[in-house]
Amino acid sequence: KKDIIILGIESSCDDTSAAVIKNGVLLSNIIASQKVHEAYGGVVPELASRAHQQNIVPVVDQALKQAGIDRNELSAVAFTRGPGLLGSLLVGTSFAKGFSLAAGIPMVEINHLQGHVLAHYIQEKEVEFNPPKFPHLSLLVSGGNSQIILVKDHLEMEVIGQTIDDAAGEAFDKCAKVMGMPYPGGPLIDRLAKEGNPNAFEFAKPRIKDLDYSFSGLKTSFLYFLRDQLKENENFIEENQADLCASLQKTIIDILLNKLIKAAKETGIKEITVGGGVSANSGLQNALRAEAKKRHWNMYIPKFAFTMDNAAMIAITGYFKYQNKQFARQDAVPFARMSI
Ligand code: KG4
Repeated sequence: KKDIIILGIESSCDDTSAAVIKNGVLLSNIIASQKVHEAYGGVVPELASRAHQQNIVPVVDQALKQAGIDRNELSAVAFTRGPGLLGSLLVGTSFAKGFSLAAGIPMVEINHLQGHVLAHYIQEKEVEFNPPKFPHLSLLVSGGNSQIILVKDHLEMEVIGQTIDDAAGEAFDKCAKVMGMPYPGGPLIDRLAKEGNPNAFEFAKPRIKDLDYSFSGLKTSFLYFLRDQLKENENFIEENQADLCASLQKTIIDILLNKLIKAAKETGIKEITVGGGVSANSGLQNALRAEAKKRHWNMYIPKFAFTMDNAAMIAITGYFKYQNKQFARQDAVPFARMSI
């Protein structure tokens, strides 16, 4: 049987990444994060595409070198087609096309969201491999998405709940901005929340039907609350930073868990996975573990490197699609919006 060796390329937002996966086992995963955006309080699309353009060749070179794989040995190149920033996606897509032609190998196009879900199927050398069984429920929480996905098989997924406005990561980042914190605020809130009282303040929770989410009301409630408090005490934020972070984080976690529990009850599924940038949140991870214990779920939490945007998840998704012979055409164009 011939080896299947996939080069994965990820460039959907502000991380340039390349990874190599051989027969499902990760050989390398290089991520170049862009620092240029910090000064602007958010990702600047034009700067992101320029940085991808500079990073992509060295990042791919490094991934191949670290994997000890020669270009001629590759079976296919898998790239993120969307969703994401169009200019950023164009860099990875164009690179994949050129690479595919030069190396004489097929291309596989990947939905970034499927990648996050399938990150749990990446095997690592010398790490016990215990992937989630099918069907499972995936809570996908990132800067751009908050979804509950019914995962029937590697490539068979159905979104059963999603945000009708902001994503959970946006709630973290926007509220952090209101408190005067730099971008991205999520990791900072996570850190500060550890010192605070999660029950110090109460913020509005949405009443949304079915398994859907909403986070824009929380942001507004948080903003108005702070505005009122600042009228009385202009140092309110500095004096209560840890409590504000802990209470806000608890509210977001409660909202996320509420619908996840509902989904688990409605489907009767006890295999639960989580993915996306927000799944790095320590409070969310603790709450998920506690809930799993209480409800006898098998809970799968990705390691940190697989919570953020990375090409390993693109390569593993490519590995499954390659086996199904689902190849992309040379005229494939990226999509900024794309659902599972
Ligand atoms: O999946 P991701 O890397 O890319 C996007 O979808 O953009 O997610 C980034 C999001 C940001 O909103 C960031 O604030 C959030 O994930 N994030 C966190 C944590 N780490 C990253 N939010 C809360 N706690 C964290 N530890």
